[in-house]
Amino acid sequence: MNALAATSRNFRQATRLLGLDSKLEKSLLIPFREIKVECTIPKDDGTLASFVGFRVQHDNSRGPMKGGIRYHPEVDPDEVNALAQLMTWKTAVAAVPYGGAKGGIGCSPGELSRSELERLTRVFTQKIHDLIGTHTDVPAPDMGTNSQTMAWILDEYSKFHGHSPAVVTGKPIDLGGSLGRDAATGRGVMCATEALLAEHGKSISGSTFVIQGFGNVGSWAAQLIHEKGGKVIALGDATGSIRNKDRLDIPALMKHINEGGALKDFHDAEVIDSAELLVHQCDVLIPCALGGVLNRENAPHVKAKFIIEGANHPTDPEADEILAKKGVTLLPDIYANSGGVIVSYFEWVQNIQGFMWHEEKVNMELHKYMKNAFDHIKAMCKSQDCNLRMGAFTLGVSRVARATLLRGWGA
Ligand SMILES: NC(=O)c1ccc[n+]([C@@H]2O[C@H](COP(=O)([O-])OP(=O)(O)OC[C@H]3O[C@@H](n4cnc5c(N)ncnc54)[C@H](O)[C@@H]3O)[C@@H](O)[C@H]2O)c1
Repeated sequence: MNALAATSRNFRQATRLLGLDSKLEKSLLIPFREIKVECTIPKDDGTLASFVGFRVQHDNSRGPMKGGIRYHPEVDPDEVNALAQLMTWKTAVAAVPYGGAKGGIGCSPGELSRSELERLTRVFTQKIHDLIGTHTDVPAPDMGTNSQTMAWILDEYSKFHGHSPAVVTGKPIDLGGSLGRDAATGRGVMCATEALLAEHGKSISGSTFVIQGFGNVGSWAAQLIHEKGGKVIALGDATGSIRNKDRLDIPALMKHINEGGALKDFHDAEVIDSAELLVHQCDVLIPCALGGVLNRENAPHVKAKFIIEGANHPTDPEADEILAKKGVTLLPDIYANSGGVIVSYFEWVQNIQGFMWHEEKVNMELHKYMKNAFDHIKAMCKSQDCNLRMGAFTLGVSRVARATLLRGWGA
């Protein structure tokens, strides 16, 4: 089942639990606006190349729409649509005053030079500048894009609208980015893990962890869990997977990676088959790489007692059912990886205030938002008698539905 079908299915289950009116349900699912643009740029060799860019703005009932822009050869409108919808529920679960959006350009960023990427980003911004804005739609980085991409969007947008730092988040610190933004999603994953384990009378300290993905989310989650005394015993990335049954030395591994080493060549670990990683013995499994990695083939063999979805959509609905039957407790993506959008919100607030926060304040506020959202999800689980995924979906959908009704829907 693709991401759009799975998201829509979760949404429909949530609306049924909430007893939402069918017309309201339909209206909440339909995107506010879908944008498709052709971006033609001169390549460095003088030839012309065309790329298709998308922006799906899903819902703005709770505030400006918010979501990443991804550069990837397989960016497809259905997936962008699903991810935009997920952002609507995610921002509502996190209680930040935003709606949801997502965008992307179908391209292979690794095959484009820096100047080609800059030209492509500027042309894309020229085509959508009237449809994004500080109080309309605020993009952020996603797969294949980074703080430099946001700097180019900010610069191009500001040519049309004047200096507008709050039009994008995830910017370089020198252009109004927030301290703590880089670590935010991983830190949020750590906070979510802490809250869930505490609920079960456990703590990060002394628990064992397996993490798939050692990029932005996975590496920060691993470092922060390690700092809290958690034992990360196995890790994997696109190059391979490793384990140390006592505890991987995460600071030493970070040094190895920062010096250009591959994860699988880390000296203080044994290499394992990557298919083994997700079914490795551990207390907590944290997928932080791709979507759909937990499926009906491997779900029956998962040994973790807890799964924290650091990645977007890592568990397909069939795996969800299998894992629930096995008694695995799963914390869903729309909550578990919301640390990034929460600190993006802080960045936007700082830009509008023109006042930069200390990193300690950013981290403390992030912790409060994560804990608050967890408590609200648990309350939904209790009142709706449902699991954590449905608790998060019913919480997000009910907040968006309430805002829609208050604004006078249907008049
Ligand atoms: N970065 C954020 O702020 C953020 C926020 C919310 C959700 N997410 C989601 O988290 C996930 C990871 O994002 P990221 O920003 O860390 O990306 P990233 O590009 O920094 O890292 C991705 C990691 O996944 C690994 N990977 C790729 N293919 C793999 C494979 N086949 N097997 C194992 N590992 C593989 C890569 O080697 C890398 O370590 C994505 O699903 C993303 O949508 C990210």
